[in-house]
Amino acid sequence: MNIKEITQGIYYAGVNDRVTQLFEGLWPLPFGVSYNSYIVRGADKVALIDTVRIDEVREFLANVDGAASDRKVDYLVVNHMEPDHSGSIPEVVRAFPGIKIIGNAQTVGMIKGFYHLDDDDLYIVVKDGDTIDLGGISLQFFLTPMVHWPETMMTYVAERKTLFSGDAFGCFGALNGGVVDSEMDTDRYFPEMYRYYSNIVGKYGRFVQKALEKLGALPMEYICSTHGPVWHERINEVVDLTAHLSAYKSEPGVTIVYGSMYGNTAEVAEEIARELCARGVRNIRVHNASVASMSEMISDAYRYEGLIVGSATYSMRMFPPVEQFMNAMETREVKGKVFAAFGSFTWAQGAVLKAIEGYSERMKMPIVASLAMKQSIDEQTRQAARELADKVADSLTLK
Ligand code: FEO
Repeated sequence: MNIKEITQGIYYAGVNDRVTQLFEGLWPLPFGVSYNSYIVRGADKVALIDTVRIDEVREFLANVDGAASDRKVDYLVVNHMEPDHSGSIPEVVRAFPGIKIIGNAQTVGMIKGFYHLDDDDLYIVVKDGDTIDLGGISLQFFLTPMVHWPETMMTYVAERKTLFSGDAFGCFGALNGGVVDSEMDTDRYFPEMYRYYSNIVGKYGRFVQKALEKLGALPMEYICSTHGPVWHERINEVVDLTAHLSAYKSEPGVTIVYGSMYGNTAEVAEEIARELCARGVRNIRVHNASVASMSEMISDAYRYEGLIVGSATYSMRMFPPVEQFMNAMETREVKGKVFAAFGSFTWAQGAVLKAIEGYSERMKMPIVASLAMKQSIDEQTRQAARELADKVADSLTLK
């Protein structure tokens, strides 16, 4: 049983998932993931904040029972409806007769759609800023749409300076015994926060910024996200990192993503990487798109200021894994990168660079340098690759 009193009257009741290999069916989970849920116990009422993925419902209900300490659970607050948090709603409703579900108007529509709980008497519909008193401790609701779905809201307990933030400030990585950051070494969770943010929430940066503006002035001692540690000692770092990522700000470094069928385009990537290193760039991440994890490529592309994309020509288009990567960049509206491109062709000169230029125009990320290689690398192409790297190095503003 995984129960922990976080602060007076607020308990952890979530679960770990070390079985699922792909989050959302897409994103690798080498360290697992936690689905966090919390109990808030007032003198009069008990509230459960969010549920967990249905696969872990048995352990979850035992945790809820334990954290509620044999009291009846009166309310279920649904901050977010993605099924990794809403999946156990029907089981909670069955387990606690008379429970009321607290959500906004969009939440209710989604619960009816996903779980067919159609009785209107089941719901308490809240608006932005509404408060519900539990007896000496109260819940205040803030609508934060698109962090990460349109119904998303956050719940604040002023008496404990605690924010239940939904997916915001979350990360991949199961919890290993500890729950609050002060009782563990959290360094390993930070790379997982880059990956989680860029993979899952990345498209919605402007909405994350709005939420930060809305909630930034609230005093906070604990941030209870739906994934990863409860933040207490490292709140400032986590908030700063989220502000940084949501504003599409970068760190010093360059990501190179290439696609190569027989190794010729790969040689150009290696030449560019060596020259960047010679120019003093210290964070260089080279990914062969055919075998690299899309999740890691997206995370690095978010993180570092330079982005260089190289592709063999494939049926007059970009090589498919590179095209898939560029689609992911465009979907997430990645912007502000020092962007360069290289392409190779056997007979279709110009096709692949034209395709990359299309992304550059749509994403409003001008190409600072490009090169096209015919068939295989020679000294002239090596020189062009070094010049491309030099132009990128010269254009970097973060050293
Ligand atoms: Fe962890 Fe958007 O769900």
